[in-house]
Amino acid sequence: MEALQLLSTPQPYLPNLPRHHHTLMRRTTLQANTIITAAISKPAEILSSPLLSSIELSVSPPLPSPFKVSPDSLQYPPGYVGDVADRSYSDDSDGLTSPMSYLTNILTSKVYDVAKESPLELAPKLSERLGVNIWLKREDLQPVFSFKLRGAYNMMAKLPKEVLKKGVICSSAGNHAQGVALSAKRLNCNAIIAMPVTTPDIKRLGATVVLIGDSYDEAQAYAKKRAIEEGRTFIPPFDHPDVIMGQGTIGMEIVRQMKGPIHAIFVPVGGGGLIAGIAAYVKRTNPQVKIIGVEPTDANAMALSLHHGYRVILDQVGGFADGVAVKEVGEETFRLCKELVDGIVLVSRDAICASIKDMFEEKRSILEPAGALALAGAEAYCKYYGLKGENVIAITSGANMNFDKLRIVTELANVGRKEEALLLTIMPEKPGSFKRFCQLVGQMNITEFKYRYNSKEKAVVLYSVGVHTPLELKEIEERMESSQHVTHNLSDVDLVKDHLRHMMGARPDIQNEVLCRFTFPERPGTLMKFLDSFSPRWNITLFHYRAQGETGANVLVGMQVPSSEMDEFHDQANRLGYEYNVVIDDLFFQLLMH
Ligand SMILES: Cc1ncc(COP(=O)(O)O)c(C=O)c1O
Repeated sequence: MEALQLLSTPQPYLPNLPRHHHTLMRRTTLQANTIITAAISKPAEILSSPLLSSIELSVSPPLPSPFKVSPDSLQYPPGYVGDVADRSYSDDSDGLTSPMSYLTNILTSKVYDVAKESPLELAPKLSERLGVNIWLKREDLQPVFSFKLRGAYNMMAKLPKEVLKKGVICSSAGNHAQGVALSAKRLNCNAIIAMPVTTPDIKRLGATVVLIGDSYDEAQAYAKKRAIEEGRTFIPPFDHPDVIMGQGTIGMEIVRQMKGPIHAIFVPVGGGGLIAGIAAYVKRTNPQVKIIGVEPTDANAMALSLHHGYRVILDQVGGFADGVAVKEVGEETFRLCKELVDGIVLVSRDAICASIKDMFEEKRSILEPAGALALAGAEAYCKYYGLKGENVIAITSGANMNFDKLRIVTELANVGRKEEALLLTIMPEKPGSFKRFCQLVGQMNITEFKYRYNSKEKAVVLYSVGVHTPLELKEIEERMESSQHVTHNLSDVDLVKDHLRHMMGARPDIQNEVLCRFTFPERPGTLMKFLDSFSPRWNITLFHYRAQGETGANVLVGMQVPSSEMDEFHDQANRLGYEYNVVIDDLFFQLLMH
């Protein structure tokens, strides 16, 4: 273990906030297996807004070629604002994408032909709970239920008539496709939307849809090729100045709508178009306002890129918040973010679910996970830095929720809010144990309980309890421990929450059992292809499948693979092409399944 000051560059101090220290784990795949513990002093690292007026513009040095990193290689506590390593400034020599050009183009954008000025609404319940004024910029109320039509329309409306006549093309299975389709309808132009064949019917729009390839990358390659062949204009989802400028109109509206001083604007980040656009406007007009990006812990391409100082590619990306499931951020979006954004907050899937619930309780609206991301980040930030009395804005960016996902959201929302905890307790297997256990649980409300006979000596129970205060949770853990009932809090252990809690049961003695988490693409034949790769070569000992929307299914598989055959196993798994992780020596797997 090596101690390291993560933020080596001196950062301006944010006054009036308490100073604490926090320990964080940082793992880098570049130096595999190196675990680095870093001490971070809490609020001092909030980066102040760069003042554009004082920027000396220079041409940025050539970037190192992109390299692959794992999302795990940069993790920090919820609410903490991650660093921006190399805040260099650059200018495009043709002046087209200079700060002034962004500002004037945003001010004169035509997005209002198709989008509306979304309301900026106070969230009274959340504000009271947190002691800050939380304002919601309601982009979920746009005609296609997300902000994405702003950027698409802005780019398309600027195309010369004769270019527009040749049509446009894009590749997307999400909100961008809806934005392009609606914009094309308004502009009376022909649009082709290339989507992977796996796209569910609900996303197949009124425009001409071409289902092509198994993945987004294949659909994109097709769209770009067809654009060249047919003279169509390719409309990218985020990495184009006109798209960024369209999204930037949200920043312009916020500045106009918010009467008091703004502490920070929280923005969900996928490829970075939305945050780059908002920052390009707000940092120019109100440089003191912090622009803070929010990413899921398992889709943190911007946080990692800003941390390293150049764009990286994620080796895997979590698909729960599918709107922001991007492996590589844009070139222009990154250039702007490096200059203008104050940092990135990372939030868990549970926290996103909790914010979907918050929004439902606040406005009776259901946000999609990416749409609730900024709210989750704002809440975590306010708690982490103990912010009080300020105005904080979160962009609620979309409401295109896949209905099937609601099951997972309701399952995790209370854990995310810390109102429910998932616990595992080991107790003696003897008459009266269960009664003793219930006495120890005491007044707490059990919301789930699972038990299966295991051995003559010990019983393992998995259960959830409702929690009102952190003290209550600490007390039950202490009560259990003091009567020799070893207890683990599994509230943050995804392997248990996604899979193991659903499949406690027989505990056969299985030799050489290797546990793997796969992401299966949502398409016919996936399972057979999987089985063809591994069966009958290796015996399958466990299988648990949980669909999580169009981004694929979470699958836990157990197989008997002797260590001498592990290389061959990895070769097969890599050839299969589904994302996977081998779970090594997991304590809870041993406790629950063996
Ligand atoms: C609902 C929602 N929120 C946030 C984003 C992220 O936007 P960007 O890719 O511009 O960072 C997207 C992108 O599609 C989205 O659909």
